[in-house]
Amino acid sequence: MKILLFGKNGQVGWELQRSLAPLGELIALDTDCKEMCGDFTDPDGLVRTVRAVAPDVIVNAAAHTAVDKAEGEPELARVINALAPAVLAQEAKRGNAWLIHYSTDYVFDGCGDRPWHETDSTAPLSAYGTTKLEGEQLIQQAGCRHLIFRTSWVYGTRGGNFAKTMLRLAQERDNLSVVNDQVGAPTGAELLADITAHAIRAARPELSGLYHLVAGGETSWHGYASFVLDYARRAGIPLKVMPDAIQPVPSSAFPTPAKRPLNSRLDTAKLQSTFGLILPLWQNGVARMLTEILDKQL
Ligand SMILES: NC(=O)c1ccc[n+]([C@@H]2O[C@H](COP(=O)([O-])OP(=O)(O)OC[C@H]3O[C@@H](n4cnc5c(N)ncnc54)[C@H](OP(=O)(O)O)[C@@H]3O)[C@@H](O)[C@H]2O)c1
Repeated sequence: MKILLFGKNGQVGWELQRSLAPLGELIALDTDCKEMCGDFTDPDGLVRTVRAVAPDVIVNAAAHTAVDKAEGEPELARVINALAPAVLAQEAKRGNAWLIHYSTDYVFDGCGDRPWHETDSTAPLSAYGTTKLEGEQLIQQAGCRHLIFRTSWVYGTRGGNFAKTMLRLAQERDNLSVVNDQVGAPTGAELLADITAHAIRAARPELSGLYHLVAGGETSWHGYASFVLDYARRAGIPLKVMPDAIQPVPSSAFPTPAKRPLNSRLDTAKLQSTFGLILPLWQNGVARMLTEILDKQL
């Protein structure tokens, strides 16, 4: 099997380089690759790349993920999140390849408290969400075999992440304020990459479609931060902030250019039953990530 991966150095792309490697020949590209075009602002270059590689599977981990910045540059976000994936979908159709793509809970408006199903109506609140939704739709319209995984609150061990920020702030300050009215599931890039590899192996034309893919359980950003700091305290990391000094606050306490959905719960029953997989609780992945981070601090 020949796999062409775009966005190889992002959180998910980095883990996909690991999880996809045993499946076959892996060609992994990022924006500034020299030999082949991996730049999503160059549609002709993308066409040339796909035709030169002639992959069985195209995996797209590239995206404009700077949610607040996207409000000020919606056209660029649209090129990267919608128009470039559409080019990949057309080329996948032409070459009879699968296209694997990631989307987001931000396609929903976040009302209510019920987990969203794949069939629920979408109503994005931001330019990022709008362009990611258009990307989904253009892939579906292209008629290629595809797996679109909508996920949320992605973290990777490499680079910055929310847990690392909380750990740093808790070592510097006596008090922390963390949003408690947005609810979702922190989902490891590692889990996304592993599930992607399983799904590619199991893929059959009739399984082509849209799936919600997040870790099990749910929490708020405040609950996530409390879990991280409690874990660090137990591991012997000295923190300035006391457990009762992590203040829960509403989203309005931290105004941002892009509006975030309050309810980011995603129902994953379709993915779990279709592929016969279990999605472990979010705490399992976060604890693993923390062990790796904290080992370096002790
Ligand atoms: N992060 C989240 O919380 C979250 C939540 C829900 C869904 N998702 C979705 O999950 C997928 C993976 O996200 P992630 O967290 O791994 O994102 P990420 O870490 O921000 O990585 C995005 C990747 O896209 C690349 N990229 C940006 N502009 C590009 C361009 N013009 N051409 C080619 N590549 C370009 C980046 O490369 P450079 O670094 O070189 O620019 C980077 O490698 C995305 O589809 C995202 O929408 C993410």
